[in-house]
Amino acid sequence: MKKIGIIGAGQLGQMLGFAARDVSIECMFLDPSEDPPAAAAGPVIRAEFDDQAALQKLAQACDVISYEFENVSVDCLRAIESICPVVPSPHALENAQDRLAEKRLFDSLQIPVAQYGKVDDSDDLKKCADVLGLPLVVKTRRFGYDGKGQAILRQIADADAVFESLGGAPLIAETMVPFQFEVSAIGARTDDGEIASYALTKNEHIDGILRVSRAPLDNPHLERLGVEYLTRLLERLDYVGVLALEMFVVGDKLLANEFAPRVHNSGHWTIEGCAGSQFENHLRAVAGMPLASTATKGYPGMVNIIGSLPSDGASISGTGSQTHIYGKQPRPGRKLGHITIIGETAEARDRRIHDIKLTL
Ligand SMILES: Nc1ncnc2c1ncn2[C@@H]1O[C@H](COP(=O)(O)OP(=O)(O)O)[C@@H](O)[C@H]1O
Ligand SMILES: [Mg+2]
Repeated sequence: MKKIGIIGAGQLGQMLGFAARDVSIECMFLDPSEDPPAAAAGPVIRAEFDDQAALQKLAQACDVISYEFENVSVDCLRAIESICPVVPSPHALENAQDRLAEKRLFDSLQIPVAQYGKVDDSDDLKKCADVLGLPLVVKTRRFGYDGKGQAILRQIADADAVFESLGGAPLIAETMVPFQFEVSAIGARTDDGEIASYALTKNEHIDGILRVSRAPLDNPHLERLGVEYLTRLLERLDYVGVLALEMFVVGDKLLANEFAPRVHNSGHWTIEGCAGSQFENHLRAVAGMPLASTATKGYPGMVNIIGSLPSDGASISGTGSQTHIYGKQPRPGRKLGHITIIGETAEARDRRIHDIKLTL
């Protein structure tokens, strides 16, 4: 049986570990937390993510190493590559970790993006405001997630304060995109170059955190464009595994925002909504197995459970829905679980989502 070592043991690790059982793969995790979610799905080496000795131990015990979050040290991954392969490659991760490198990569692939500028000090920020106009979305180049490490510059007089508020870190400033909605294109690629992509997913955020996803989009033009951009990215990176590309929809255009070299919250509906979930296909690609079908069953939707658990999870999860609870301690803004609905029609799904949102 193939053994995959996964750095990080949060809910994504847990869902990878559960999916592994269906494809006769064993997962082992590395995470510093006490009793992390993935402990329910496999053994966990308890160590810091940059603990070289622990990473070596994981690499020695496994056939291949993968990861479930982006802030793994690329140097640490390169150091264990001599023991066993790291998939997706540290090169792909390096591009995803730095928002400037990421935007330049999109540019080089002729994937449209918001206009942007590199910001190393508050003078750079003022120059960006001059050249690109206001408002600007200002983001730390590294370590941002769920809208953290971001600020909006609305008037040039606030440039110093906005720069300081982000801790003096290297930044990127982007024009604020007047998008209609946000989507993600999720797909898997194998070492042989086989690509399978999921239906384009429409995403709704609250305070920078994903709240609801729905698929498919039922817009053939955007579906085609999304798969086209995703394919360009997967091929350029010679990528292996699942990748999620987040984009803004503006009219009939897609503007790429960022990509995650891993399974993604907006793809959780694929567990019930596809024969092969994003978790199964990530494992298949990483383990060198052919991919499973990504065709959509019915009209799936997903609602995140954020901050506190519903008092009666069982009653929320009625017919045609499935509640997943990750086993994390409740905390404001924390993703604690999600509910998947498979509707027979888009309208039926949306009614269920509406009701679920009222009870959460
Ligand atoms: N240039 C932009 N224009 C408009 N909205 C943006 C822009 N960049 C980010 N956002 C909003 O902020 C959310 C979080 O930003 P994102 O770049 O995806 O960072 P992360 O998800 O890593 O925190 C996006 O999903 C989107 O709603
Ligand atoms: Mg994002």
